[in-house]
Parts: sequence; structure tokens; C-alpha cells
Amino acid sequence: MDFIENQKWRYATKKFDASKKINGEDLEKIKESINLAATSYGLQLFKVLIIENSETRETLKKHSWGQSQVTEASHLMVFCNFTSVKDEHIDSHLQLKSKLMGIEESTLKGYGDFMKSKTAEMTPEQTSVWNAKQTYIALSNAMAMCAELRIDTCPLEGFSPEEYNSVLNLHKKGLEATVVLTLGYRSAEDKTQHTPKVRKTLEDLFEVL
Ligand SMILES: Cc1cc2nc3c(=O)[nH]c(=O)nc-3n(C[C@H](O)[C@H](O)[C@H](O)COP(=O)(O)O)c2cc1C
Repeated sequence: MDFIENQKWRYATKKFDASKKINGEDLEKIKESINLAATSYGLQLFKVLIIENSETRETLKKHSWGQSQVTEASHLMVFCNFTSVKDEHIDSHLQLKSKLMGIEESTLKGYGDFMKSKTAEMTPEQTSVWNAKQTYIALSNAMAMCAELRIDTCPLEGFSPEEYNSVLNLHKKGLEATVVLTLGYRSAEDKTQHTPKVRKTLEDLFEVL
């Protein structure tokens, strides 16, 4: 399938068909697409929660401007950024790197020290923002993967991160909610699917200097 065609097919789904569920094989592909997203230094300082519990989803809907996608989509993913970068995060990444690349961990020490010094320069707020940015790249990968699989999505920023953090006990895990992805299959009643894409012209969007 053609990437541009997939993107034209995709739209921010307002109403999902609650009776249709994403199968396990497709879900694994979506998870893989998230795992393969590029991240700064490759550190992957985020986690994606898949919320299956229907009571929790009802509660989260209340904190998501009442948006029906939260309960009606087949799956609900909450992308969460790490709230801090600890030396142990960098060390465990380098251990993995050394194992998967078959290189001595000691040869990566200089690189590790560089990452530690750069990340230590950030304030806690800058760290959260930096980690949050990474989740959007992963979100985009997931949406593109879904479009290829003809699975509908709607990303959501229309929610209260503070309430999500509290309901999902995220601070205790060193996380905070960044962005939400609802995914499943469009309802035939969702009129949005018939509306044209509203986009700037390429001339407006790009400037060649
Ligand atoms: C980060 C992000 C947050 C969004 N939040 C919401 C949301 O809370 N509710 C919603 O219905 N759509 C949400 N959208 C969908 C946008 O409104 C939609 O992508 C945009 O209007 C373009 O339409 P299209 O995706 O159908 O082409 C969000 C999109 C992005 C990228």
C-alpha cells in the first residue's frame, strides 16, 4: 500500500464501532511500530499503557472531555513520558546496546558520560518536555502503521494529564501522561469520514531559502 494513499484514508475518527476489535497479530505490529520509532540517543524514555479495564476507561473518559473514543475504540493507549532521566536509564540502555551489538560495555563509557552530562543540564521540566516529544514520534509511527493495516485511530490531547496521572498512579512509576491514542474501526455513522481533508497548500507550508 502507498504511504500517501494510507494517509488520505486515515482521519481522526470521532465515532468507533465498539463491536469491532483489533486482532492480536495486528496489535503486535502496532506495538512493534512504536518500539521501532526513533528516539533521542535511542533511549526510549517513555512507556505505553494499554488500558483494557472497562471501569478505568469509563473513568478516563470523564477526564477526556467525555470523548466517546476512549470507551468505544477497540484499544486505548496512553503514551507516557518518563519524568526524569536517571543514570540507570542510560546504563541499562548501554548494557542492551553492548549485548545486541556484541561490543564491550567499557567502549561505550565515554558516550554514556556524554549523555549523562547533557541530560543533567536539563531542568526537571525540560526533561519531561524532552521525553514527551519522543512519544509523539512513536504516536505518529503507530498511526501510520494502523493506516496501513486499515485500522482507524484518533489521537487525543483533549484530556486532563493531571487526572490521568492520578487515576493511573503514574507519578509513582516515574511517568506522566503525554498523549492518548484510541484505535479500532470507524462506525458507519461517523460522518467525519466523508469530509474532505483540510490542509494548507504545499506552497504555504514550505519555504525554500
Ligand atoms: C496531538 C493531537 C491531539 C489531538 N487531540 C484530539 C482530541 O482530543 N480529540 C479529537 O477528536 N481529535 C484530536 N486530534 C485530531 C485532530 O483534530 C485532527 O488530526 C486534525 O483536525 C486533522 O484531521 P485529520 O487527522 O482527520 O486529517 C488530535 C490530533 C493530534 C495530532
